This record gives sequence, structure tokens and C-alpha cells, in this order.
Amino acid sequence: MENKRPVWTSKYAFIVTAVGSAVGLGNIWRFPYVMGQNGGAIFLAVYILLISTICFIPLMNELYIGKLTKKECVGAYESINPKFKFLGILNPVTGILIAAFYFIVGGWIINYICKSFVNAQIVDYGEYFSSFIQLPFHPCVLTLVFLFICIFFAARGLKNGIEKANKFLMPLLAVILVFLVIVSLNLPNASAGLEYMFKPDFSKLNSHMVLAALGQAFFTLSIGMGALLTYGSYIEEDKNLTKSVYTIILSDTAFALLAGIMIFPAVFSFGLQPDSGAGLVFVTLPKIFSQIPCGNWVSFAFFVLLFSAAVTSGISVVEGPCATIIEQFKISRIKACTFLFILISVIAVPATLSFGLLSNIKIFDKSIFDFLDFLTSNIMLPMNALFLCLISGWYLKLKGKDIIKNKLFSVCFDVGLKYIVPFALICLMIAGLK
Ligand code: TRP
Repeated sequence: MENKRPVWTSKYAFIVTAVGSAVGLGNIWRFPYVMGQNGGAIFLAVYILLISTICFIPLMNELYIGKLTKKECVGAYESINPKFKFLGILNPVTGILIAAFYFIVGGWIINYICKSFVNAQIVDYGEYFSSFIQLPFHPCVLTLVFLFICIFFAARGLKNGIEKANKFLMPLLAVILVFLVIVSLNLPNASAGLEYMFKPDFSKLNSHMVLAALGQAFFTLSIGMGALLTYGSYIEEDKNLTKSVYTIILSDTAFALLAGIMIFPAVFSFGLQPDSGAGLVFVTLPKIFSQIPCGNWVSFAFFVLLFSAAVTSGISVVEGPCATIIEQFKISRIKACTFLFILISVIAVPATLSFGLLSNIKIFDKSIFDFLDFLTSNIMLPMNALFLCLISGWYLKLKGKDIIKNKLFSVCFDVGLKYIVPFALICLMIAGLK
């Protein structure tokens, strides 16, 4: 069966969906805790510097290769050179592995939405969180529910599913975020949190932190999995791709900053620690919500916010592999999505159980969940981005002047694509292996 390739209904639809992919758990869950663990303001300064310079190049590159080849990942690599097909296959594989752990966190969020809605009284949030994730049944079901929601939108197609979800959820996300920022800034002693975010302590500058900022920047922009390549392939015409790329970067950074401004003043206002790691959003914040007036509704709003962000990104995580399956195997979108649902479930369920029932199964000394996170974030994403930069820069000999109007920018793009970004990505992978 021949499937006609979809195209964006408008430029706005493309931008809002690409921003939807970028803004996700990476911004609201991961960014604040990585920043909290890496010294606050100084991390933010380095992060902004990197995201506005180095990250521009692989982001532009992915979208451009999609737009140029008008194919999903595997087809795109294959059309450049059939020998590169294998490198293309690594992209949807990465997507399927990321999906497995991304959707687990999505399942936790659904649980917290329900708990806030019924105003469940929890005494010890740390204890509650760790015992919840160890349960054999609940987290698995919720992971599958979350996966189903994302796949459902992907199955409805670009116009009626993916675009519609993003056009609805992204403005909702922005409104809730602004509301929560206002709530947080009105807490007593909120300024301590702002100081932590914006007053750099230069003694905390080190190479480990620079690499953490770089890794976070790549992850949050959804680089290295072919999601953006696939979105790029649906572009019919964009005369100013540079502007679109900057809009994506700016919006993503704005969401991350607002997430920080929402979280840190609240954390400091209650005398809690900002460096509690992955539990920041699931343990520290609920503790705060339980102590403020109408806290369960604030909590509800927060987890709906997190849910919306995760769904729009989750859709992009599944759309890459989904487009590949549709076009490589020439099957319908519905069939591809059903297949993907089963495939991701087979990996996600054991990963969900790796906190409890399967906690004694270790891969390289890591639980299944930690291993998937490590393998995708530290190795596969930078590796895919590296291959694509090398292919564009050295094999296709892509020239900045063909895509970017500004002369200085285009020269920087050339140097970045061939040397600086590959070097940065290799450093990231080496650091990630440690
Ligand atoms: N960028 C998303 C976030 O910040 C996560 C994400 C979606 C992603 N698609 C991706 C990460 C593709 C890497 C590659 O949460």
C-alpha cells in the first residue's frame, strides 16, 4: 500500500510541534535538577552560551537533512548513500529505547495527577515515591496508559493528531507555567531562589559541569534521534529555516528558565535543598505543595503541566520510529502504531519493574531503567548526532551559505559542523562512558 507523505498545514504548526518536541521532561524535570546539582547560576550561564551557539548547528542540520531528503531517518540516510542505512537504523532504535524510559516517568506523572485530584494525604513524600515506583502493577499500567496516549495522537496522523495535540497542549503549558511562576514568586523569601539561579559563583565552574550543560542542551532540543529529521521532512517550504531554528531554541530556553523560576524560589522558600536529583519534582515539590494553601490544586496544575510537556515530546519520540516503519515496510499508520505500541511495551514493562520486582537484574551494574537512560542519553544520542554531522560536513560537504543568509553565521556553521560539534560530541560520549 502506497502512503502519501504528510506535510505541515502551516509554518506555525511546524514550529509549535517542534517546540512541543523540545519542551518536555527535559525542561521541567531534568533541567532544574541538573542545574541544582551543578551549582545553579553558573551552570545556567554556560548552558545558555552553549545552547545558543554550538547546539544551533546539529539542530539545523537534522531539520535540513529531513527537509532536503523528504524521507524518514532510514530512508534519508539511505538516499545519501546506501552504505549509511545502518547508521539511519540506529535513530529509530534509539527512539524506541528512549521511549521505554521516558514513558515510565509519564506514568508516574499520571499517578501524581490522580493523587492531587483526590487530595490524597501523604505523610512522607520520599517514602511514598520510592514505594510507589517499586509496586509491581500500578506503575506498569500507567506507563502503558501514557504510551497509549502518545501513540494514539501519532496514529491519528500529522494533521489530525500530532498538530492538534501540540496546538492545544503547548498554549495550555505556557498558561499553567506562568500561573505557577506567579504562585512561586509570591512565596516568602522567594528571592533566595532567584539569587541561586541568577547570581553565578565562578568557583563552581569546571569541565564536568560544562559537559553536563552540553548534554542537557542536546537532550532538551531533541537532537540525535531523528525526531527532528522526521519533522523536517514534512516541511514543504521554509525560506528562513535559521529563524525557525532560533525560535525553537529561544522558546525551549524560555520554558526551561520559567521552570527554574517556578521551582527554585519555592524550594528555597521552604528551606529545602535544590540538589536532590531526580526526586526534585516527585518528592521535594509535592512536599512544598502540601504546605501551601489550595496546595492540591497547585499540585494538580503542576502535574498537568508536566503531563502536557511529556505528551508533546513523547509524540515526537514515537513519530520518528513510526514514520520509519510506515515508509520502510509500506504499511498503514495504524498498523505501524500498533506494532510500535507492542514493541515499546515489551521494553518498557521490564524497565518499569526494574525498581521493584526486577531490581536484581543488572546490566553493566545498572538497573534496566538506569541502563536505558545511560545508553540513550550518554551514548546513542550523541553518537547519532555525531554521525549526522560527519555525513553532512564531510560526505555531503554541506555548506552554510546554501542554508544561512548571514555570511558570518554561515562560516561559523561550516567550521562548527566539521570540527567543533563533532569534537564536543566526542567529549560528551567519553565523559558519558565514565
Ligand atoms: N526534548 C525532550 C525533552 O526535553 C525529550 C525528547 C523528545 C528527546 N524527543 C527527543 C530527546 C529526541 C532526544 C531525542 O524532554
